[in-house]
Amino acid sequence: MRSNNPGKSKFKIVFICQQCGKENPKWLGRCPGCQAWNSLVETRVAPARPVAQPHFTANAPQELSQAEKRESPRFSLGFSEVNRVLGGGLVPGSLVLVGGEPGIGKSTLLLQIAAMMAEAGQVVAYVSGEESIGQVKLRSERLGIDGKGIYFLSEPDLAAVLESLDVLSPGLAIIDSIQTMYLEDVAGAPGSISQVRECTWRLQRWAKQGNVPLFITGHVTKEGAIAGPGTLEHIVDAVFYFEGESSSSYRVLRSVKNRFGSTNEVGIFEMSDKGLIEVGNPSQVFLSAHKDATIGSVVVPTLQGNRPLLVEIQALTTINSFGPPRRIASGVDFNRLLLIIAVLSKRAGLKLFNQDIIVNVTGGLRVSEPAVDLGIACAIASSFRDARPIEGLVALGEVGLNGELRGVSHVERRITEAIRLGFRACLMPELSSAISAKVRQSIHSDDIRLIEVGSVMEALRTGLTRGTRMRSAGSENGGLE
Ligand code: TYD
Ligand code: MG
Repeated sequence: MRSNNPGKSKFKIVFICQQCGKENPKWLGRCPGCQAWNSLVETRVAPARPVAQPHFTANAPQELSQAEKRESPRFSLGFSEVNRVLGGGLVPGSLVLVGGEPGIGKSTLLLQIAAMMAEAGQVVAYVSGEESIGQVKLRSERLGIDGKGIYFLSEPDLAAVLESLDVLSPGLAIIDSIQTMYLEDVAGAPGSISQVRECTWRLQRWAKQGNVPLFITGHVTKEGAIAGPGTLEHIVDAVFYFEGESSSSYRVLRSVKNRFGSTNEVGIFEMSDKGLIEVGNPSQVFLSAHKDATIGSVVVPTLQGNRPLLVEIQALTTINSFGPPRRIASGVDFNRLLLIIAVLSKRAGLKLFNQDIIVNVTGGLRVSEPAVDLGIACAIASSFRDARPIEGLVALGEVGLNGELRGVSHVERRITEAIRLGFRACLMPELSSAISAKVRQSIHSDDIRLIEVGSVMEALRTGLTRGTRMRSAGSENGGLE
């Protein structure tokens, strides 16, 4: 039977938050769910259809002890850096989200992965809602990929995509990007939170049913999350971010969630004119070319996932007599920087109240672990006092509010990496006797000098040389001992 006025009764209008996905009956300036401003978008939604009653047949609960272990073999990709981030290779049936800013190289990375899988004899489906086959062909020629075994589909309608995928039955599927896909029966424009969420659900189901690994790409919002924080990340099996500075050719693939491996693992690439190349010795890459101690620059042996990686922290302090002092953190956590500045001011007596302070991690890398605290503190003090760090120094340790230093995990692995790259002194918190014995057992004492200190103040006394140049403004000199 046909209704006389189908448009009126079929749809209702709701306002959906693009950050958290909450539905509201009326427009509000601020989402009551996640408190985001201006995130509600008017959306026409079809009334919910009655859901078919599920019938439970063979799916009875099973005792875990009786369950069979099912471990499907992982596909090992030609990129060992990607394998590392995946946790040892690609798991069949897993849905992996690769997020990043536009232009960072997501499509390039996935096309190279597609080529590697195709070379290993798999059929690969590459679905793009953004680019035509001509554009992708151009890119593949640039990358030296002949395209055998890679089937390209330019189609934004996900229902049609899934039908084609069922026919093709690939060994790997790639959806580039999730924001360009849409489903007819879901409210909102492509890229809106309801579309992105529903499309991801369907893809997750498809991947699990066919036991096919599936990569999807996602553009990040200006807040740095993919389509609103927390909406996509819990649906997929793994979330990787592809990051890098536009000025640098280095790219970092970082795992922030992985159901099949450890998080915080990083893979490091260089973008060349022939695509992405793996970086074999990443510690070397992130240190600047000069080995000599430089004012305002301190090297920290960080741990990225399971891999030790040396990074260089640079700080610059300059007097600001006019406005409120500025603090700029790039590559380190801003709040952590404020804490360290407060400790340096209050506990170490550095008069930083009228200083602009800029802290940067070289190579566009981001480090989030507290083990870099002492490195940041030393770099700031070094710049402020015009005092070089002692030759061949690395610094390691978490800073507490009283200026005390706390231990960090896996000290011996970090120190071993520092030794490998030729560093000769390690400024670090006092070790407990058990850990100290372990560290000294695995490290030759003449390889590196371990300088154990109890506080930031002590670290600055032993880790920095005396300021070589006195500042002209006497009042700025408060921190000089
Ligand atoms: P792309 O993979 O299209 O980025 P995304 O999918 O994340 O938007 O990469 C785009 C950039 O990479 C572009 O600025 C050109 C650069 N690029 C190279 O430098 N070398 C190459 O071989 C390729 C294919 C791209
Ligand atoms: Mg792209």
